Formats: sequence, structure tokens, C-alpha cells
Amino acid sequence: MMISSLPSLVVLISGSGSNLQAIIEAVENRQIRAQICTVISNRADAGGLKRAQKAGIKTMVIEHTQYPSRETFDQALIAAIDKCQPVLVILAGFMRILTSGFIQHYADRLLNIHPSLLPRYKGLHTHQRALENGDRHHGASVHIVSSELDSGPLVIQAIVEVKTGDTAQQLAARVLEQEHQIYPLAIAMLIDGRLKINHNSVYFNNRQLHKPLLWHAGKLLEKA
Ligand code: GAR
Repeated sequence: MMISSLPSLVVLISGSGSNLQAIIEAVENRQIRAQICTVISNRADAGGLKRAQKAGIKTMVIEHTQYPSRETFDQALIAAIDKCQPVLVILAGFMRILTSGFIQHYADRLLNIHPSLLPRYKGLHTHQRALENGDRHHGASVHIVSSELDSGPLVIQAIVEVKTGDTAQQLAARVLEQEHQIYPLAIAMLIDGRLKINHNSVYFNNRQLHKPLLWHAGKLLEKA
């Protein structure tokens, strides 16, 4: 059921939607004081659609393959998203490059999560690349999308130790567990005003953040 006084969120997915699930649970247990207006997938077979439907959330499929260009696809997304008048548009495993028009349209309202300690390892296969480089630490980043995908001011990063003998799958699973903690936390703090975004700058308790908040072993390490 929609409660009109709560701010709206729109979540965009392409896949299994485990981050979406964590956000749904945080909305249900009121860690996040907002409502998910709709979940939009660019793939009809995205597992996250079922998770949304199970939680009684409206879903939409807007398949990029049905549009002649990135611009027309993004315009269709904008038309659907804007019906919700969201305070935040949340990319949760949404695997499409967005046009600058889309990014501008949602300036200061567009959030992404990426499975690496950005700016390291933008793009795909982040876990394998961290292992190949012999990194001792890996992790996940929540950031504002301001120019291209996997770029923009960082909000919070979760740090994960790389263990000797880790496979990419083992490391990915530990990173994903952390993603499920930091994404709902970041959204909750943006909704309740502990975090603010203004002209691409991030503020924590009204002080500008010059480096991301750090999350390690279930705790915030740094407070701006
Ligand atoms: C997550 O690991 C997310 O960080 C990543 O896709 C996965 C989606 O999983 N996103 C990106 O790589 C964005 N560049 P989920 O569908 O289970 O939430």
C-alpha cells in the first residue's frame, strides 16, 4: 500500500535484485522512511522483478532492445520514472550506460552501487581484477552518478579484506553482503537528511565530505 506522505523512490534493475531486496527490507522495517513507487527493469527476465512483486511493489519492464537509440530508451525511462516524482532514483545492478541527458535530469538524485573501491575497477569483472592485482582490500562503493556510469562523488565505501586463496566468486559473495548493508544505509541517511547532496557535493551532518564514509565490520569508521 502506498502512503502518500512518504517520499518516493524508484529502483532500476537488470538482474537478480539482491540489492533491491535489501532495500525492500529496509523500507519494510522502516530503516528507510520512504516508499518504493516502482521497480523498472530493462530485462523481462530479471529476477528482481519477482522480488518486487512479492513485496507488492509495482514493476515495469522497459526493454532497451525495443528502442532505436540510447536517447529514446532513456526518454522512455524518464517518462516512467517521473510519474513517481522520486526523491531518489536508485540504480541497483542496472547494467546500462545512461545518457548525459538522463544523468542531468536526475542531478543530485541518482545513486549507484558498484562492486569495487572506486575509482578502482570501473566496469565489469571487478573481483577478478582485484585478485589479479594482488589487492589486500576490495569492496563496494555507493556514489552519486554525475557523468558516466561507475563515476561520480563517493558517498560510502565498504571495505572487504581479500583472503589468501580467495576465488572471484568467494570474494564477490563477501562484497555483496556488504553492499546489502551500505546501500540501504546510504539511502536511509539521504532520506532522513544526515546525508545531503547538493550540486554534486556530498554533505554528512551538514559538513562537506571530501572522502567517502567508510564501512568496515558492520560499523561506520569515519564521520566526515
Ligand atoms: C551488484 O554487485 C552491483 O554492485 C553490481 O551489480 C550487482 C547486482 O546484483 N553493479 C554494477 O556492477 C554496476 N556497475 P543484484 O542484482 O543482486 O543487486
